[in-house]
Amino acid sequence: MFTKNSRIGIIGSGAMGSGIAQVAATASHSVIVYDNNQNSLAKAENNLKTSLQKLVEKQKISQNKQSEILSNINFVSSLSELSNCDLVIEAIVENLLVKKNVFSEIEKLVKDTCVLATNTSSLSVTSIGAACTNANRVIGIHFFNPATLMPLVEIIPGVATSLNITTACKNLIDSWGKVTVIAKDTPGFIVNRVARPFYSEALRIYEEGIANMPTIDWAMKEVAGFKMGPFELMDLIGHDVNYIVTETVWTQFYFDPKFKPSISQKRLLEAGFLGKKTGRGFYDYTENSIKEEPTKNADIAKTIVKRILFMLINEAADTLYLNIASKEDIDLAMTKGVNYPKGLLRWADELGIDLIVKELTALKDFYEEDRYRISPLLKQHFIMKKNFY
Ligand SMILES: NC(=O)c1ccc[n+]([C@@H]2O[C@H](COP(=O)([O-])OP(=O)(O)OC[C@H]3O[C@@H](n4cnc5c(N)ncnc54)[C@H](O)[C@@H]3O)[C@@H](O)[C@H]2O)c1
Repeated sequence: MFTKNSRIGIIGSGAMGSGIAQVAATASHSVIVYDNNQNSLAKAENNLKTSLQKLVEKQKISQNKQSEILSNINFVSSLSELSNCDLVIEAIVENLLVKKNVFSEIEKLVKDTCVLATNTSSLSVTSIGAACTNANRVIGIHFFNPATLMPLVEIIPGVATSLNITTACKNLIDSWGKVTVIAKDTPGFIVNRVARPFYSEALRIYEEGIANMPTIDWAMKEVAGFKMGPFELMDLIGHDVNYIVTETVWTQFYFDPKFKPSISQKRLLEAGFLGKKTGRGFYDYTENSIKEEPTKNADIAKTIVKRILFMLINEAADTLYLNIASKEDIDLAMTKGVNYPKGLLRWADELGIDLIVKELTALKDFYEEDRYRISPLLKQHFIMKKNFY
């Protein structure tokens, strides 16, 4: 369905759209980027030039390649210029109504064979597709930020999407050097669902006063091997983004308590303390600010790591149990999409399913909250003394 000559259209020239355009143009496709905001288009074009120049200076690409990429991308201010595209990837504002309008408009402009994809992080692909007469060519192609660097791409067929379109999109994005996983169209897909406890359990431990934020971050990095601690990561992502993803996942799962957002994080958002980008989030990033020290105690670290890691494993197991993705794809998604040190299901096998079930049962018994309910798949594996692999 797609070849090197396939023309790629991008709608939205913000952080994601411009990154995806660079990836596609680097893979030698002719790319047309449309945005309804002239400033955003100009900024994207400038950023692209700067980023390619840096790659040349670091000798990551040759000058010839730089010129080739630049000549492959055209920035346009009319949607109709995308009419000849074979694949259009939408990366505009995360608003269902706005996306539906754009899909219904673009469908009328392109060829019948053109595939229409959305880069949505949290909206239903099926719902966006329903705005089109031919929903079987609408699919989710979810890149991670920054799209040029993050290897993972989640491919999300909606309820109406044809299998051959899913396969063709997977093959195309693989040919761009990305690692693709297939996910069912459910809130948060794989990564944004499975990762929730990394933040929420850390927040819960902090809110209960079990440990301060630097201690939780220290334990997750030094003891569990994660690249960043939960509070550092939330501050980096920004609470406007991270809190909203949590709230959206929780709302879309009909307020399932295991996805419930934290009041502490909501207050930061209300205060405008969005994280590193505003100089203050959970931590203070202003000059001369005094940072609390972690309590480097092995017992506290064990409590923290067990709670957060076992809750992550529980969510990975539930994602497999509910057939959202294969075990291999769930593990790949977490290592390639958010840099986890190991796939969670493989990690579960290494640690022992019996230990995980025992600890989660203790949490559930103590708190008597549905938040700590154990995935039926973990229980089954425990009873049958089975591993994931
Ligand atoms: N930023 C991330 O970390 C990230 C990661 C994965 C997926 N996403 C998803 O990608 C999409 C884009 O996110 P972003 O961070 O690049 O946003 P952004 O705000 O950086 O860029 C959005 C761009 O879309 C343009 N736009 C808005 N409405 C438009 C319309 N009707 N027609 C044409 N252009 C329009 C804006 O002018 C802007 O340039 C969202 O759906 C988001 O959920 C974001």
